[in-house]
Amino acid sequence: MKRLIVVLIVLVLFSLSLPVSNLIAGLPAGTLRTVTSDDPLYRNAMAVLGAKCVNCHTPEYKLPFYAAFPIAKGIIEHDIRTGLKFINYLETLIPEEGEPVSEVVLAKTEQVIADGSMPPMRYLALHWNGGLTKAERETVLKWIQDVRAQHYATEGVAPKFRHEMVQPLPPVESLNLDARKVALGDKLFHDPRLSTDNTISCASCHDLQKGGTDQARFSTGVGGAVGDINAPTVFNAGFQFMQFWDGRAADLQEQADGPVNNPIEMASNWPEVIGKLEQDEALTREFLAVYPGGYSKDTITEAIAVFEESLLTPSRFDRYLQGEENALTDNEKRGYALFKQYGCATCHAGKILGGQSFEKMGLYQDYFADRGNVHTPDYGRFNFTQREEDRFKLKVPTLRNIAITFPYFHDGTTSDLKEAVNTMVKYQTRHARISDREADLIVAFLKSLTGELAGQPLQ
Ligand code: HEC
Ligand code: HEC
Ligand code: HEC
Repeated sequence: MKRLIVVLIVLVLFSLSLPVSNLIAGLPAGTLRTVTSDDPLYRNAMAVLGAKCVNCHTPEYKLPFYAAFPIAKGIIEHDIRTGLKFINYLETLIPEEGEPVSEVVLAKTEQVIADGSMPPMRYLALHWNGGLTKAERETVLKWIQDVRAQHYATEGVAPKFRHEMVQPLPPVESLNLDARKVALGDKLFHDPRLSTDNTISCASCHDLQKGGTDQARFSTGVGGAVGDINAPTVFNAGFQFMQFWDGRAADLQEQADGPVNNPIEMASNWPEVIGKLEQDEALTREFLAVYPGGYSKDTITEAIAVFEESLLTPSRFDRYLQGEENALTDNEKRGYALFKQYGCATCHAGKILGGQSFEKMGLYQDYFADRGNVHTPDYGRFNFTQREEDRFKLKVPTLRNIAITFPYFHDGTTSDLKEAVNTMVKYQTRHARISDREADLIVAFLKSLTGELAGQPLQ
């Protein structure tokens, strides 16, 4: 009996020294390893990630034979469950036909490969060849930079920032928006007739003088009805991959249908709105000149969406990324370096520093348990998909104009930017805390993101 136990232990120890990935055969990781593409860079990068990373970041894993031993099984399953909570590579590395891999997946992958934090140390200790070789690291990093330069670098970015995860805003002219639709949308956005009692316009809750928000914890709609989730800014919102905290609208046009019908916002409906607008001869004439078919849910929401797309707010930070070295102070530059170093830019990525993914609020510690009083709005993406893995995932907000879009978070729990930064460090990064000085520097950087709208500085 004793002998048998010794043999078993030796067997377990030996098997743990083999790379998991080599022992798991015919798995989704294999799908990535043999991905077919005309692009050798993509093919090679997928082969590396498929062999070394995907097994812990996919829901469709099969355990290796030694997982039959209870302790090994526990460790492996824990790693896979945890890894999956952070990123699902099977879902994200093979995008739909013609779509590039998302900026957030590129950013996260780049970060952990560049700083050597993946695969986890405790795993490498047991799997001597589970890590990436220098050549493999270079292959993946090169692929990431290549996708970025091809798909995400914005017009006017300085060559040295072309490959970075954060990009400047493109010039608004490059969007080629129809100026007549912008003008109409502007009027409709500010028109209280979109609400049932003619008291509330879109601008009531998205005031262009208040950072595109109402600077309130929760918004007040018709008849004093108060909502239960913080109103995000409409500035630069056209660059988000979906709209609303839970992504229930695909784009700005679809989004604009929501508030009109929402009983605690505008409490109206399209026939009622159109009936009122038809009484307005001047507006109707202007509208017909652009939309000969006249008022409808589709035409009204389109005009509003085009107006919102025009609300770009370039800042000093953009001039810095465009190569104007002195556009930021030394402290702001230090803050930006820390922002990247602590991994903030992996979620707050791209040209609006956010808006490209849903992320669990409370990845490293339980935010909701600490806050208490958990209720439906906190469930985020889950409310739309009903998928358990989406519970507590919220669309990452943009950080542009963050100094003036307080209070912060979907629950509006603080208006203090430094506190918001410290909350992020604690719950969303593997660094439990940072020094006071570092938090100040990050705040200084974030303040440089306050931009201007049509040439007027925002404040
Ligand atoms: C043995 C399982 C395992 C392997 C192999 C593994 N990971 Fe992870 N991964 C995890 C776990 C567990 C976490 C959760 C965070 C932690 O424990 O540090 C994680 C977290 C992550 C994150 C989010 C963390 C962050 O800082 O943004 C990324 C991105 C990631 N892994 C990418 C990779 C890549 C790329 C590889 C291959 C080079 C890889 N992982 C290999 C288990 C694994
Ligand atoms: C009573 C206040 C109120 C009114 C009126 C209102 N909104 Fe909002 N808006 C909100 C709140 C609150 C949210 C967040 C709701 C959510 O995500 O569930 C939001 C979300 C949005 C978003 C999504 C932003 C993001 O980051 O996902 C856009 C865009 C937007 N509103 C535009 C509009 C437009 C256009 C109108 C007018 C047709 C309008 N809003 C009317 C309060 C309001
Ligand atoms: C894993 C993804 C992730 C990382 C990493 C991350 N954030 Fe966030 N951030 C989010 C999400 C999700 C929210 C929204 C949370 C909520 O509303 O409850 C958010 C919200 C914020 C807000 C409030 C925005 C608003 O308009 O309410 C600030 C400020 C912020 N993050 C800054 C940072 C900083 C600074 C770092 C680095 C220390 C960081 N974030 C790292 C995902 C992330």
